[in-house]
Amino acid sequence: MAELQAAGDMEAIKAVQVRYLGRKGQLTQFLRNIAALSEAERPAAGKAANEVKQFLEGKISEALEQLSAGQADQGSAIDVTLPGRPAVYGSLHPISQINRQIMDIFIRLGFDIVEGPEVETDWYNFEALNFPKNHPARDMQDTFFVSSDIVLRTHTSPLQVRIMEKQPPPVSIIAPGRVYRCDSDITHTPMFHQVEGLLVNEGVSFGDLKGILTAFVHQMFDAHTSLRFRPSFFPFTEPSAEVDILCVMCRGKGCRVCSQTGWLEVLGAGMVHPAVFENVHYDTAKYTGFAFGMGVERIAMLKYGIDDLRRFFENDLRFLRQF
Ligand code: PHE
Repeated sequence: MAELQAAGDMEAIKAVQVRYLGRKGQLTQFLRNIAALSEAERPAAGKAANEVKQFLEGKISEALEQLSAGQADQGSAIDVTLPGRPAVYGSLHPISQINRQIMDIFIRLGFDIVEGPEVETDWYNFEALNFPKNHPARDMQDTFFVSSDIVLRTHTSPLQVRIMEKQPPPVSIIAPGRVYRCDSDITHTPMFHQVEGLLVNEGVSFGDLKGILTAFVHQMFDAHTSLRFRPSFFPFTEPSAEVDILCVMCRGKGCRVCSQTGWLEVLGAGMVHPAVFENVHYDTAKYTGFAFGMGVERIAMLKYGIDDLRRFFENDLRFLRQF
């Protein structure tokens, strides 16, 4: 046993085996010599020798097993001092982040979120919003047609009609979603995101529109970001306005971002046109309302100081990781 314990490798173990159990081994020799013993001695000697032989054989194969197990261990050894592989984290796309911020502000102001289809009928996208067939205002939006009567929605305004159709006043909703226009350059992508707002009740005025939009802009940017309303035209609002905010980059001094004007256009808005109310059977003598629509990419560009709209859609991780 002492020799076996001292045997450090396969060769040494085999040598022990040969020395005792081999053809000329000591134990083999002893077993052979049993025949020469007296009849009285033979049984005890034979029994003892066989026990020793079995014991030795067991110990030798045990030693061999341990040796090969040890070698296997070494092959798959884990180096616990190596640094771990860090888990890769995903994050929300900047557009999703801004979308959520916008939603949060309007939820706090009491608006409900609604959504609608991106493939829309001509009726909801145009006709019900007071864009008659062949009206030149349809040219304001370069439409993707699925068929002569089905379009990819060019704005989120169809949600105004869809929601009013379903419920009587009062209504106060915001509708986020993708919109599509056949347009592509530094400031236009064929798909972009809008948030629509609509509030209808008795006695709603243009002052309410200004109040809500001011509250929104002050929360989205800061309380020093003033707003400016410019007269504009949309078939579904009257009066209509385009809303500018004080340039977030130069604070009104004039810079490249605001084309030296000091102002940035961020949304379209106005009082709901009575023709739209008639299409959803709202009582135009009793109810008034306002609506607005803003581009989410535009807000995100201003918030983060991004100068090329296309960055949002290239999925370049070096860009996205910064948010
Ligand atoms: N739908 C208009 C656009 O996409 C924006 C708008 C919404 C204007 C609601 C007025 C009221 O340009």
